[in-house]
Amino acid sequence: MIVAVGENGAIGKNNDLLWHLPDDMKFFKETTTGHVIITGRKSYESIPVKWRPLPLRTNIILTTNKAIEYEGALVMHKLEDAITYAREKGEEEVFIIGGGQIYQLGLNIADRLYLTEVKASFEAEVFFPAFSKDEWVEIERRNHPKDDKHAHNFDFVIYDRRIKEVDGKS
Ligand SMILES: NC(=O)c1ccc[n+]([C@@H]2O[C@H](COP(=O)([O-])OP(=O)(O)OC[C@H]3O[C@@H](n4cnc5c(N)ncnc54)[C@H](OP(=O)(O)O)[C@@H]3O)[C@@H](O)[C@H]2O)c1
Repeated sequence: MIVAVGENGAIGKNNDLLWHLPDDMKFFKETTTGHVIITGRKSYESIPVKWRPLPLRTNIILTTNKAIEYEGALVMHKLEDAITYAREKGEEEVFIIGGGQIYQLGLNIADRLYLTEVKASFEAEVFFPAFSKDEWVEIERRNHPKDDKHAHNFDFVIYDRRIKEVDGKS
């Protein structure tokens, strides 16, 4: 999963992001380009029509609505079907790109989290689900300082799911 999250878990409000961080957008684009991306219907609709589907990526939108279609994108009704589609396409890394409802679904099956940890708290309506650091190990952290174009300091962090051994130790 790939997400930018405030210190209080905040990820969105009014079906929009809470910050403007161009270098995080750049990171998102570079990391996901060439891959299958899976998004909830609300997040997809929050992308301006002229920018969607996100280019050079297979966009899969999850919805319960069996009638809905989006030009240039695939619509599916189960996260598992989207993952299976990506696997059958030979994908090694498929990205769940939000929002809150879809991260909640994905947390059980994801094996890597690309978290941009924004160093501030935000008033929000949508939050990233709580996850236990016992189940995830930090494998990379890079800081991006606050500057003229970035109102907040943030870290690009990668967490991998801990591999459980048969005796229950990790
Ligand atoms: N900070 C970040 O990195 C980041 C990233 C992405 C999004 N966001 C923010 O997150 C917010 C949107 O998140 P959200 O939680 O409101 O909505 P969402 O997760 O983007 O989309 C929710 C929709 O997904 C569909 N859905 C949910 N569960 C499903 C299931 N089990 N099977 C099939 N379809 C399912 C439903 O569509 P239908 O109603 O059509 O059935 C539901 O309304 C926005 O503010 C956005 O800006 C932030």
